[in-house]
Amino acid sequence: MSEGYDWGRAEAEVADVPQPGLPSARPEPSLTTVGAPSLFEVARPELTFDDVIDLEPLQDRLSDLFLQPFRRSEPANRTFSARVLLYGPPGCGKTTLARAIAGELGVPLLRANGAQLADLYAGESEQALRELFDVARVNAPCVIFFDELDTIDSEPSRARAPWLQGGIRQLLTELGSVARAGHQVAVVGAATRPWAVDSLLRREGGFQTALFVRPPGASARREYLERALDDRVDLDELARLSEGSSGADILQVCATAGPRATTQEVAQALAAAGPTVASWLEEARAAADGLTDDGLLDDLRSYLESA
Ligand SMILES: Nc1ncnc2c1ncn2[C@@H]1O[C@H](COP(=O)(O)OP(=O)(O)OP(=O)(O)O)[C@@H](O)[C@H]1O
Ligand SMILES: [Mg+2]
Repeated sequence: MSEGYDWGRAEAEVADVPQPGLPSARPEPSLTTVGAPSLFEVARPELTFDDVIDLEPLQDRLSDLFLQPFRRSEPANRTFSARVLLYGPPGCGKTTLARAIAGELGVPLLRANGAQLADLYAGESEQALRELFDVARVNAPCVIFFDELDTIDSEPSRARAPWLQGGIRQLLTELGSVARAGHQVAVVGAATRPWAVDSLLRREGGFQTALFVRPPGASARREYLERALDDRVDLDELARLSEGSSGADILQVCATAGPRATTQEVAQALAAAGPTVASWLEEARAAADGLTDDGLLDDLRSYLESA
């Protein structure tokens, strides 16, 4: 939980460190927002679905949920209220997709981190959430992005539960409020361990839909490699060898090896990095077997059956 939270990684992510050849390398002009508390940041992403590798079927569903309703209606009475949870292994595109949704819509993205909210004291998380949604309403149309939602958990067995319950209740109240027509605030949540997301947030009134952001298949892995490496390397062979790696893993390996690395050098670097997605899939399979609920993991189950 929050004790084990990796602040170094979170800071690196928030800083949007530019990496060669990545869509995230583009600077995002930040918005000046009156009263924005420091617990969240506001950006205007320029990323679009074209920048996202693989994931086309998912993009179609996101388009139905976010883009079509927004584009169909007149600016004055736009309906804009989807609340979607994106889940999947680390480094496969959850944050990238949230930014691309805002980028496609051409609206600001307000990004809050679940772990930071979970670290607040009693009462403070309610206040922070009220402020976040107030800023969202002022900046509407916009998208709120809750990252690391699996770190806010008010289950009674958890040590931090008592003061998180207020935060969860406040979040449900705010989600209910923006779900009503006319607010033009959409909400995207992200979790690597969706089964650990507070069950209240998974029920009606919380996030309405959960979508699996799958790990890259062979052709997607080839695309990552192709973007990052010299064309003299054997892309098909490296795509085969990178099975079990996330997009972020592959890009990291390629950045370390350098664009002119040979097939053998990249192969060695991939072997040293190891298949990080495999351990996630193992944990996810056990969770999917044990969880008989609400359709939360339906996408994951179909993926595991076909894998
Ligand atoms: N589907 C994708 N398309 C394009 N780039 C991607 C994709 N998946 C990952 N990346 C690249 O890898 C980096 C990490 O991806 P991202 O932050 O979207 O992963 P995540 O699923 O949010 O991971 P985490 O669970 O660690 O937050 C991004 O900066 C992006 O450049
Ligand atoms: Mg992320």
